[in-house]
Amino acid sequence: MQRLPTIGSKLPAVGTTIFTVMSRLAAEHDAINLSQGFPGFDCSPRLQEQVVKYLRGGYNQYAPMPGVPALREVLGRKTADLYGVAYDPDTGITITSGATEALFAAITAVVRPGDEVILFEPAYDSYAPAVELNGGVPVYVTLTPPEYAVDWAQVAGRITDKTRLMVVNTPHNPTGRVWTQDDLDRLAALVRDRDIMLVADEVYEHITFDGRPHISLMTHPTLRERTFVCGSFGKTFHITGWKVGYCLAPPELTVEFRKVHQFLTFSTITPVQHALADYLREPEHYLSLPAFYERKRNLFLESIGASRFRFAPTQGTFFQNVSYADITDGSDYELAIRLTKEIGVASIPVSVFYHGQNDYRILRFCFAKDDDILKRAGERLSKL
Ligand SMILES: Cc1ncc(COP(=O)(O)O)c(C=O)c1O
Repeated sequence: MQRLPTIGSKLPAVGTTIFTVMSRLAAEHDAINLSQGFPGFDCSPRLQEQVVKYLRGGYNQYAPMPGVPALREVLGRKTADLYGVAYDPDTGITITSGATEALFAAITAVVRPGDEVILFEPAYDSYAPAVELNGGVPVYVTLTPPEYAVDWAQVAGRITDKTRLMVVNTPHNPTGRVWTQDDLDRLAALVRDRDIMLVADEVYEHITFDGRPHISLMTHPTLRERTFVCGSFGKTFHITGWKVGYCLAPPELTVEFRKVHQFLTFSTITPVQHALADYLREPEHYLSLPAFYERKRNLFLESIGASRFRFAPTQGTFFQNVSYADITDGSDYELAIRLTKEIGVASIPVSVFYHGQNDYRILRFCFAKDDDILKRAGERLSKL
């Protein structure tokens, strides 16, 4: 009898994600789904027409490995105009299949077995598995509510001779925290004389509120030279299902990044890249985003204003965290399930974004939804 090989999981701790669990529960109970982080409305018909144009125009074979030149060029111009930093489309800009691919390729390009990687938690769920699949060891810095400010003494204490990479996410999912110039300066002071690289996840770069600027890591000279800046068109143009992102990095880093990208996906969907190149030429398509989402944030906050939830208005992203400490002592997971089943509103328990246990009692709601849905969710949450 043949002996069957055993696979032995490389990611034993990874199971069904909370997003799948909550979305399934929301569907079963016909609940309003404010759990998963994607827009509940469609993208621009013009952008759709552009894709159809290129699809019908014969742009259906492999794109160049680094991305369609027109898209890299317009992205380079946009980055120079907005942040005053010039990345050469040929040596510093790579189009990827979503920011997820960019993050994985950047982490893979840097991390070797035994390397330590500093992650700020609550952390977006793709970072730690990418580190672990490369034999790296995640080392966590904890951000605590309600401010979620970085404790720089804690960061300094986590750095060892083995620290090789830090993953920064601003504006931050799930907390909405936006890093300040002071945060960037303190990070620069810590990494300046060390062999530490940086991955900056800036997929929410265009979603900041109350006049607060997004300060990209690329704007800091000390940080720029060691940073892979990862972005996504999904969040900016309401096209999360298209999975198109990018990585901006200095030439030496881009060479190594592309070696991984080349064998991970090789290239990214061709007609969509051409369509995005056209669409990105008009800045109002992304510059209008802060006002668009700030109105939705305010609408959602007004609708839960009389509830027993406590919150500080989120600084960026399309997520609002709320404390339920005045409502129950139970776990956030139990409450998220209960709210979905009993009052018909699905959320995400924020404890899942930490590697260990905690009792912060925070739920995350996504407000990238139509106004009437946000109002109805608010009415239900206010009855609690
Ligand atoms: C912080 C963060 N990074 C990366 C991603 C993934 O982006 P993409 O859909 O372009 O792969 C997301 C999506 O939710 C996110 O919230």
